[in-house]
Amino acid sequence: MKHLLDIDDLDADALLDLLDLAEDFAEVQKRDVPKVPALRGRTVVLAFFEESTRTRTSFDLAARRLSADVVNFAAASSSLKKGESLRDTIETIAAMGIDAVVVRHASSGAPLQITGWTDVSVVNAGDGWHQHPTQALLDCFTIRRHLGSLEGKRIAICGDIKHSRVARSNIAAFTKLGAEVTVVAPGTLLPPGIENWPVRVERRLDRVLADLDVAYFLRIQHERMNPALLPSDREFRLLYGLTVERAAQLSGRALIMHPGPMNRGVEVDAEVADDPRAVILDQVTNGVAVRMAVLFRLLGPGRFDDESAGSPDPPRRTDPSTPPDPTTPADPTTRVGAPA
Ligand code: MLT
Repeated sequence: MKHLLDIDDLDADALLDLLDLAEDFAEVQKRDVPKVPALRGRTVVLAFFEESTRTRTSFDLAARRLSADVVNFAAASSSLKKGESLRDTIETIAAMGIDAVVVRHASSGAPLQITGWTDVSVVNAGDGWHQHPTQALLDCFTIRRHLGSLEGKRIAICGDIKHSRVARSNIAAFTKLGAEVTVVAPGTLLPPGIENWPVRVERRLDRVLADLDVAYFLRIQHERMNPALLPSDREFRLLYGLTVERAAQLSGRALIMHPGPMNRGVEVDAEVADDPRAVILDQVTNGVAVRMAVLFRLLGPGRFDDESAGSPDPPRRTDPSTPPDPTTPADPTTRVGAPA
């Protein structure tokens, strides 16, 4: 695989392979020096044409922890402001000798378009309403770590489904790994054609809470929304927010998730965000290991399409509670080199 644009670029085996590799990189992160030389000599450009805190920082750390050189391209102070086109901007960056570009863009399909303009690997870090594949991977990783697997798990994704690339990527990833997904939203925040998605649709949050393994809340995406679609944040909270009272309906083992940035007191009440069942900060932590796995698979030895790459893949561990095969080193440095 050369690019990661869409969760549908990955079948269930490829998804699980990335999650297993991310387990190894999560171990690297616990070391005093959380770094391996796997991508030494490679250059990764972070080209974010839309705001981001966690995704940009997470890709930046992931690339550096693999010893890649990282260039942060600041769209706001670039020649785009002087009228340069996206194509010229990308071709100019690529001409400097880089290996991958991680792209966030407000237009759905921009990362795909970029693959036609350059030979380097392209990673989609969120494009419009379309896809956010590394968010889906880190969410699968987080659920698997807490609940063992996604197989048969009941997951509700609640809120602004219509404008959410996270919803689109997560529904695809969760269902590929065997989860049953329900989307919960008012009719105005459901996309046209939802009946063809592999989900159950529910309008009332209170009807589903007691049975859930995972309650996943989305941010209200005002920047992409016609204000007529939602009376007010207050009204939304009353009907679809995870209030303290609603959180009491969830089982003690259920996970509360949110991709961030979170509006405390709208999608999730402030007290609930700090509930022990909330794994919102774990999601952020796990994002670094998952993005290390993605960059390693695209640029490192043993990439999906490179039969000649020397490094053998480790056996897959689908259940993180199963101890690794003692005959196979769990430490990725034994496959990708000693600590940097
Ligand atoms: C995204 O970039 O889509 C975020 O991770 C979620 C959001 O902005 O609500």
